[in-house]
Amino acid sequence: MTVQLSQKERMLLQDQKKHEEVCVSKYNTYAQQAQDPNLQQLFSDYAQNEQQHLDTINQILAGQVPQITQNAGQGQQNPGLYLKGSNNPQDAGLCSDMLMTEKYVSNTYDTAIFESKDSNIRQVLNHIQKEEQEHGEGIFNYMKNSGMY
Ligand SMILES: [Fe+2]
Ligand SMILES: [Fe+2]
Repeated sequence: MTVQLSQKERMLLQDQKKHEEVCVSKYNTYAQQAQDPNLQQLFSDYAQNEQQHLDTINQILAGQVPQITQNAGQGQQNPGLYLKGSNNPQDAGLCSDMLMTEKYVSNTYDTAIFESKDSNIRQVLNHIQKEEQEHGEGIFNYMKNSGMY
């Protein structure tokens, strides 16, 4: 099945593509910068999710309607919920940055979803948005469990 995107949809999806690229790059960089091995693992897991989001957005931009890929939260436990680390300022800073980033990206998916003509694409974008919120929840919980919040 292929879709014809409007110019507005294409513009918004280009933005989402850029956001996903930034998320992949930040999570990969921060996985290396984090002191706590649990946080390194969490960030690398999320980097992989973001790569899948990026691939999905690219598929839509190519006119395809992608299959929904199940990530954290769907049968599989969100890895962030029970993790904990030590409260060090550098890791706390990385977490705050990613929490802020996830909030922003989740927000921008709203606009993309509301402007989508195709109901299947809405569902795919909605699924990605749900995963951004799960990333936010994982980071929030990690911070809370580690005494950062
Ligand atoms: Fe994402
Ligand atoms: Fe995310």
